[in-house]
Amino acid sequence: MSKPKVTIVGSLNMDLVVTAERHPSIGETLTGEKFTTLCGGKGANQAVAAARLGCDVTFIGRVGNDAFGIEMIESLRKEGVNVGNIEMIDEVESGIAMITVNPLDNTIIVVPGANAHVTTDVIDKHRQAILESDVVVTQLEIPMDTVDYVAQVCGENNIDLVVNPAPAQKLTDNIINYSTYITPNQIELTQLAAAHPEILKDHVDKFVVTSGSKGCYYSVDAFRVDVPTMKAEVVDTTGAGDCFNGAFVSYIAQGKSLQESCHFANTAASISVEKFGAQHAMPTTEQVLGRMQS
Ligand code: RIB
Repeated sequence: MSKPKVTIVGSLNMDLVVTAERHPSIGETLTGEKFTTLCGGKGANQAVAAARLGCDVTFIGRVGNDAFGIEMIESLRKEGVNVGNIEMIDEVESGIAMITVNPLDNTIIVVPGANAHVTTDVIDKHRQAILESDVVVTQLEIPMDTVDYVAQVCGENNIDLVVNPAPAQKLTDNIINYSTYITPNQIELTQLAAAHPEILKDHVDKFVVTSGSKGCYYSVDAFRVDVPTMKAEVVDTTGAGDCFNGAFVSYIAQGKSLQESCHFANTAASISVEKFGAQHAMPTTEQVLGRMQS
């Protein structure tokens, strides 16, 4: 059977990760425990998750012409992601994320760098990859105009589109109307509902909402369906939402039901939080199916 084709239009960041027993207070200098650089970015994390879960993944994005850019492309290539549509540009540095991980949670500051230069003409250049996809996935770490344009291209060509609205921002009409699924977490949902007071009334059936250790929920004819997740020994939640999205898309692209896709994605995310880092922690199909049976 041929693999489902998934195209991710999104961000690549080098994650500069510090672990510490707690977050510092304002003005405080705190001694941390460990510093690591790891390939990340919501788009790239979701690409790795979908590739490990059996999809033929193509990535459209931009990195700087620097050591981080080279490393991030190489790392995706090793994961089997088609990196031929990632452009290396001279004007700016690669995107980075400063992440502080402590035993309970994490904080992230992103400097978009080259991700802010994923403009609509980049989409025009790589449009063919989108047109050949079973499902297209995007997030909000690239410019909103570009996400809007991706939505328009998908809508006009009847291609399924999953929009992970992270970090949450006001969406455009094209994004709302042409997306097949919108996948915020609980906080992002609150922010979206504040920016679009009618969105849940008009489009609730598009929403798949992740809710951490509680799993996720969606609606059918405005009735809420909860899909609980598995218990996990949490080490690091960075990238858990990306794992959910990559896994969700891998099942949707195979034509599985919403219920099956949510259950699979919950289980994948419950495995990902048990390891340090985002891309490192993405599970394989065998691992997810194994946990589902356990
Ligand atoms: O979702 C986790 C990701 O958010 C990190 O890898 C970081 O790069 C930020 O984009």
